[in-house]
Formats: sequence, C-alpha cells, structure tokens
Amino acid sequence: MASTTFKFMAPILLIIILCYIAPSSLAAEYRVGDDLGWRPLVNYYSWVRSKSIQLGDTLVFNYDASQYSVAEVTQFKFIACNASDAIFFEKDGQSSITLSRPGQHYFMADNHCADQMVFSVLV
Ligand SMILES: *[C@@H]1O[C@H](CO)[C@@H](O)[C@H](O)[C@H]1NC(C)=O
Repeated sequence: MASTTFKFMAPILLIIILCYIAPSSLAAEYRVGDDLGWRPLVNYYSWVRSKSIQLGDTLVFNYDASQYSVAEVTQFKFIACNASDAIFFEKDGQSSITLSRPGQHYFMADNHCADQMVFSVLV
C-alpha cells in the first residue's frame, strides 16, 4: 500500500522540486542599453555593471543598420578596435548574441570605438 502511494507521489514530487529549481537557472535576455539601444555616447560599461549578466544569457542589440554594426572580437582586436576577423559580426539592425562560453566577451561597433560603442562582459 505504502509503495503504491510512493509510486504515485514520486512524479508529482519531482515536478514540484523542478518548479523550484528551474526559474533560477532560466536564461535571461538583455536589451543592450535598455531603451537607448546600441548607439554612440552611451556608457555601456555602466550599463553592464547595472545588470547581473550570466552564462547562457542573451544580449540583444537594437541599432540603426545604416550606420552601426555589432562585432564580438578577441581581446587583442578589442584593444586595437579592429572588427575584422570577428567572432561574430552583424549589421542588420537587430542582433542577438547568446553568451554560451564562459569568460570575457568583447563587443564593439566597427569604426565607432571613439563614440563609446564598446564594452566587455565576464560570464
Ligand atoms: C585589422 O586587422 C586585420 C587583420 O585581422 C588587418 O589586416 C588590418 O590591417 C587591421 N586594421 C587596422 C585598421 O589596423
């Protein structure tokens, strides 16, 4: 009798437990720059600091495709502000990048480093 009850209860208990665990591990999506989007003269370093971006989260860049782009580059290319041979490059006005690799990620807009369209994030 007791084991029959357990067989019936076990899946229900599992579902209850998963409901508690799952939300904390769900990936979040961040709109870079919030309502300002991806454009010159926004302090993206302070934007990054105001979030707790984690491994598996997605960054969404919204921008004017006629002027700007998004590149994820190596640290070396980031310091040089050179978007050639980028890990990721898009120029279509809306770009989503999932941070699926642990470590530092470097983002920049080609030819717009001087306009502060640069930041890095550690996940
Ligand atoms: C950017 O890097 C590429 C090699 O990846 C190089 O050919 C090019 O000259 C660099 N551009 C500048 C402006 O330094």
